[in-house]
Amino acid sequence: MKIAVIGTGYVGLVTAVCLAELGHDVVGTDVAADKIDKASQGTPHIYEPGLEELLKKNLKKGNLAFIHDLDETIQSADVLFVCVNTPQREDGSADMVYVEGVSRRIAENLNDYKVVVEKSTVPVKTSMWIKRTIDLHKKKDVEFDVASNPEFLREGSAVSDFLSPDRIVIGVESERARDILVKIYERYKDRVLVTNIDTAELIKHASNSFLALKISYINLISELCEKTDADVEQVAKGMGMDPRIGNQFLRPGLGYGGSCFPKDIRALTKIGEDLGVKFELLKEADKINLRRIDTFVDKIKKALWILKDKTIAVLGLSFKPETDDIREAPSLKVINRLLEEGALLRLYDPQAMENVKKTTPEKPPQVYYAKSAYDAVEKANALLIITEWSEFGELDLKKIKALMDNPIIIDGRNIYEPAKMRELGFEYYSVGRKQLL
Ligand code: NAD
Ligand code: UGA
Repeated sequence: MKIAVIGTGYVGLVTAVCLAELGHDVVGTDVAADKIDKASQGTPHIYEPGLEELLKKNLKKGNLAFIHDLDETIQSADVLFVCVNTPQREDGSADMVYVEGVSRRIAENLNDYKVVVEKSTVPVKTSMWIKRTIDLHKKKDVEFDVASNPEFLREGSAVSDFLSPDRIVIGVESERARDILVKIYERYKDRVLVTNIDTAELIKHASNSFLALKISYINLISELCEKTDADVEQVAKGMGMDPRIGNQFLRPGLGYGGSCFPKDIRALTKIGEDLGVKFELLKEADKINLRRIDTFVDKIKKALWILKDKTIAVLGLSFKPETDDIREAPSLKVINRLLEEGALLRLYDPQAMENVKKTTPEKPPQVYYAKSAYDAVEKANALLIITEWSEFGELDLKKIKALMDNPIIIDGRNIYEPAKMRELGFEYYSVGRKQLL
């Protein structure tokens, strides 16, 4: 059985590499030629822990390849994993233009029975459209199946998430397709959930939206904590000790970013609305998430009053630690707001600076990309923590204080202890916790 992965972005590249690691014969393709060139040479175009090693290993083993030609890729494979992007449209719905484009190409190249697997996150009922598109455009009367196998990996731990999944969801409408997909994931047979396709598609959107809801909920509680003597970290800990609630995804902060939660919660809202089901609950979660940035910028202003000509160090630009991905990163919104106010920024991130530079080029003194966290804080009037990379938790804070002009930290991710910060002489603002002066 030969597997093709169409679209080798954050999900597709990991999928291709990990399916090869599971022992399958895999070929990946993408319209972005540079991604294919890099992957062929054993260099991922993204930063993802553990990926490069497995990419090199499987290329060498000979069961993984990357090619430019989409037609050839489709013709040569039995199973096609569609991993193209499904970005947000202006009205909140998912843009299916790339999925539709690939479906037409599959139709034109259908030469034998194939299973077309939706791995991209797609609205419920998408499989019906893919099927119709292939039926309308296919040139040969060949059978095919469409199946859904949503991906649950997280960036930053994508390889281990893929290779040690909690669950494998397989949505099918034929035994033939079910048997093929179950065989691909044979190693995980104790974790496979087989459903119909609508259900599988909905499991993905429902899961992401629920997690986003959980984050907005704790952020809402943090707002209340800031008006009382309650400590949100303790509230989250106390809540999380109840196994029915669980202790994950209760970290308050700057809200959820990334290429998925913001778009998926809106896509599900739109799907609901289109089908006559009101999703006000998710709209409120989205609003809570958006106001995290306002609240954070207000805190900076409360500490510095006027931002014009103030030197502000910013640590953490990626939307979460252990990735170079800046899609919907809170940092970008904060940076834009600070630049509008005339602040002078010293930015640092272990992996994401090259990506940020593409839209916010270096232009000292307004925008300076620092060589390290210590370089970033030099002569700063305040330091912002936007992304909780572990190295920021391990900084020598005495050195940080000595380098700064004013020892003020506004921490959007609660990486330090307020009591310790007071002891060190910092003016320290965090999320949902009492500020100890
Ligand atoms: P991405 O933008 O990084 O990758 C998509 C890739 O598809 C791009 O490289 C693009 O060039 C390619 N592409 C577009 N049209 C193509 C075509 N016609 N032929 C070949 N290649 C084509 O996006 P991503 O983050 O990998 O997400 C892909 C999908 O997976 C989305 O639906 C997303 O919601 C879902 N998803 C993402 C994650 C994640 O952590 N990023 C996790 C689970 C699910
Ligand atoms: C998320 C899901 O966790 C994956 O299961 C899913 O496959 C993926 O979306 C997707 O569909 O793309 P990801 O976006 O990579 O994965 O990262 P998460 O760890 O979920 O974090 C998302 C955002 O929420 C980040 O901005 C993070 O900082 C924020 N977050 C997360 C919090 O603010 N608090 C938390 O407690 C957890």
